[in-house]
Amino acid sequence: MDKMKNDLPIAVFDSGLGGISVLRDLRALMPEENYLYFGDSVNAPYGVRSREEVRGLTIDAISRLYDRGIKAAVIACNTATSAAILPLRERFSDIPVIGMEPALKPAVLEHPHECVLVLATALTLREEKFSHLMEAYDTLAEVISLPCPELVEFVERGQLEGDAVDAYLNARLGPYRERADAAVLGCTHFPFLREAIRRALNDHTVLYDGGAGTARQTRRQLELWGLRREGGQSGTVRMENSLLDPEILSRSRMLLELK
Ligand code: DGL
Repeated sequence: MDKMKNDLPIAVFDSGLGGISVLRDLRALMPEENYLYFGDSVNAPYGVRSREEVRGLTIDAISRLYDRGIKAAVIACNTATSAAILPLRERFSDIPVIGMEPALKPAVLEHPHECVLVLATALTLREEKFSHLMEAYDTLAEVISLPCPELVEFVERGQLEGDAVDAYLNARLGPYRERADAAVLGCTHFPFLREAIRRALNDHTVLYDGGAGTARQTRRQLELWGLRREGGQSGTVRMENSLLDPEILSRSRMLLELK
């Protein structure tokens, strides 16, 4: 085991602040690791862009992080994963590159023949990766896909509750309020709006997100590659953003520490 190499940070990347929800799960599972979070808020939201644009932005961002020295990259964004995971793995083949997908599988398996909503960005929902997921699971339950791009913008502004959030969610989710047995939060920004989403749906609706599963997958990959950082002391977290505004960094810290 190469101790120096294992001390390098795990890069965690998102179009903006959403991936911080995954960083929280990573830290909860592996507090001894060092993390370098990079949010591309200048270019957020990614979910309304074309696949080519998102692919280009994601590869550029990961290239810059890679050149600084990282031991793994977590693409903490369903949209960027859908658009870029294969070229990323090809280009950075000497580190593990971990991606995400909407947690449709557990939602459907735990709610057979019931109604499962998938909330995600428009790009995630129209990409091939999601079509394959749907082919595998949509015969097992009634799956309804709902693009919710505005939710990304609420989180980017640090607006996690309030009348505007509730009005949007009531309009978007209201029609499914009585029917939805499960809802998949298929965008890493959405777990920050969990309470508001729950209010707009029903008390019995079970919410799923992919953060904890991605953290476990990252741990498995680090173990396979012999890259775990050992020795009980807790690691460091460095937060960066393409938006050079102190406000975005304090919002990032607030989201990271949120109870
Ligand atoms: N957080 C991202 C995701 O998981 C996308 C947000 C965006 O549209 O930029 O899909």
